[in-house]
Amino acid sequence: MIKELRAEDLNPQEFIEQKAREISDTVGSGLAINALSGGVDSSAVTMLGHRALGARLRTYFIDNGLMRQNEPQQVASLFGGLGVKVEIIDAKGQFFQALKGMTDPEVKREAITQTFYKDVFGKLVRESGAKYLLQGTILTDVDETLAGIKRQHNVLEQFGVDPQEAFGYRIIEPLIQLRKDGVRKVANAVGLPESMYNRMPFLGPALAGRVIGEVTPERIEITRTATAITEKELTSSGAFQYMAILHQDRVTGIRDGKRDYGLQIEIRCWESADARTATPTRLPYEVLDRLSKRITTEVPGVVSVTYNITPKPPSTMEAV
Ligand code: XMP
Repeated sequence: MIKELRAEDLNPQEFIEQKAREISDTVGSGLAINALSGGVDSSAVTMLGHRALGARLRTYFIDNGLMRQNEPQQVASLFGGLGVKVEIIDAKGQFFQALKGMTDPEVKREAITQTFYKDVFGKLVRESGAKYLLQGTILTDVDETLAGIKRQHNVLEQFGVDPQEAFGYRIIEPLIQLRKDGVRKVANAVGLPESMYNRMPFLGPALAGRVIGEVTPERIEITRTATAITEKELTSSGAFQYMAILHQDRVTGIRDGKRDYGLQIEIRCWESADARTATPTRLPYEVLDRLSKRITTEVPGVVSVTYNITPKPPSTMEAV
């Protein structure tokens, strides 16, 4: 049972010093690696890890082919500016191969977990000689996995997986007692700019979590374009998280006076403090109208855009 450390009880400076000491004691004189996705959790861990280990930490950005537009380059260049060297690993082919033909959400999540930990990190660990992987798992990830709601991609030990046995390395999780609001405090105190510590959450399985049904490069590209439009139009909403989801079913539409059996995109926009519960944002109708016009004209093949009005629970925030 992990003891929760609530954001209001957290002293970020003390927390950072304590975690940096623990990381340094655990890793000793060896090497560790960590994967940065640019989200607030992995960004905070990257800064903490560098404070603790300096050059003994190697930071990688895994380009799984499922990220948003230009994300790998943007994240690597932002961290470069903070003095942290990030190496981009091209793993697109491995992820698409692993996801081929899969439609069940939990099977897809498991395929992503295995590809990350066994194939990609396994190889990086073997090649670098590192014995530890540092990662930003938080308490909400563990809760939802253990409750059987959704297998979060980064929950292993708490799910009964021994990473040493399964993948050949140990995992260090300095943020495991925190929720998102606590992580934001730590991310701020560890020196990240506001654009990072207040960044909207984004899930480890990336856009694969927003494609219902089979994940292919083409279906990811459709979701990526719809995501870019949705993020642009909803930035000013101030919401906790917003997203575009590609549905599996097609519906009958009309284009140029002819039948077009086309794709459906669902928009979700959430108000939440810690992602445990959430309610849909009451977006102005003009905003919804603009989203539907832009997505049906700018995203090839889309004839239907819907807005989800269900709170969590019974919904979850992501669709897969
Ligand atoms: P759900 O969909 O479970 O999402 O209501 C709650 C929060 O967690 C994010 N999420 C994930 N984050 N790995 C992650 O790192 C995952 O597998 C994962 N699945 C969901 C989601 O974006 C939301 O902020």
